[in-house]
Amino acid sequence: MGAVSTSPPSAARFLDACHGRPVDRAPAWMMRQAGRYLPEYREVRRRVSFIELCRDADLAAEVSLQPFRRFAPDGVIFFSDILVPVQAMGVKVEFDKNGPRLSHPIRTGDDVLRLRRFDPAADLRFTGEILKRLRGEVGDSAAIIGFAGAPWTLACYLVEGTSSKSFAPIKQMMGWGQRTLEGLLNLLADVIADVLSFQIASGAQVVQVFDTWAGELSREDYRRWALPAVTRAIAGIRRSAQPVILYVNGCSHLLEAMNESGADVLSVDWRLPLVEARQRLPQRPLQGNLDPGALLSPTRDVRRRVQAMLAETGGIAHVVNLGHGVLPQTPIESAEAFFEAAREASVAQAAEAPA
Ligand code: CP3
Repeated sequence: MGAVSTSPPSAARFLDACHGRPVDRAPAWMMRQAGRYLPEYREVRRRVSFIELCRDADLAAEVSLQPFRRFAPDGVIFFSDILVPVQAMGVKVEFDKNGPRLSHPIRTGDDVLRLRRFDPAADLRFTGEILKRLRGEVGDSAAIIGFAGAPWTLACYLVEGTSSKSFAPIKQMMGWGQRTLEGLLNLLADVIADVLSFQIASGAQVVQVFDTWAGELSREDYRRWALPAVTRAIAGIRRSAQPVILYVNGCSHLLEAMNESGADVLSVDWRLPLVEARQRLPQRPLQGNLDPGALLSPTRDVRRRVQAMLAETGGIAHVVNLGHGVLPQTPIESAEAFFEAAREASVAQAAEAPA
């Protein structure tokens, strides 16, 4: 057994792991860690709509800090949504119980021309405010995480209008509207680069790009459509040492292609065993990958599965996370068990475990 470390949360640990530098233990956070599984979040949501919450710097900073106070993660993601910048492009976005709903789906070149490239410092001022507050509150005890949707995933919403899972309209565009789709993806890449640059200037120390729907593409189509767009977005981010994390849900067939995007860390889902990801990309810092559904099991099983996941990293710098966002049905004790197990396991333990 290696020494058990329960060292406090730290921004440096998170950033070191993202750069592949040695750490005392793997840093941990959870995608969607602020949200409906927390009673204090539901309490705030009784008073304001989701969109109002995203645009209110006081309340958004408050709900970003709720999981930080409870679980002491090494990273604090600011509260917002990937569709907030889409609103700033001039699209009407609403959320109902079935998820997001966008006005006027994009289908033609003229539709793309009506979308605006905007100045985030003017149109997303509240985002800058939230990040500044979080940096002030959290100090060095956790890294502040900025984020945006990747061009492909945002294009899915813009073309479909909802989160319908058929992808027929955008796949039709891949065949019949190639110039329109290229124009849309390039515009989104530039908007995302502007947005993430602004988040970094406002205090984000690491940024994650969510390409939730890219796993829907074959390897060939990923290389043709989603990869060039996300590569352009990442290349356009004005940053110094701030790492970029790229997340794709259902990424096992895309891992090597994702590794060409310019991202510093690749975030993998639970369908791909970490051991295999590590073999395929021996040097690349990885993030993930516990099945969010595992948090619906008894807490002793949650702990066991976090320990097993850490053993799979082989002691190489890793960011502990879920393989997708935490589910609203998750019991608080499970989230606690997830973070405690991640804190207790030391890198030495992981290194001693069989690969
Ligand atoms: O991680 C965090 O704690 C920060 C907040 C965050 C939200 N959305 C808040 C949210 C982040 C990082 C996102 C990203 C996001 N949003 C993604 C990519 C990640 C993923 O989960 O795949 C996507 C695809 C969206 C779009 C979106 N927003 C959908 C499809 C929905 C409806 C489904 C759902 O989970 O309710 C949302 C709404 C949303 N975004 C909620 C939250 C907390 C629920 C709103 C509520 O309080 O009712």
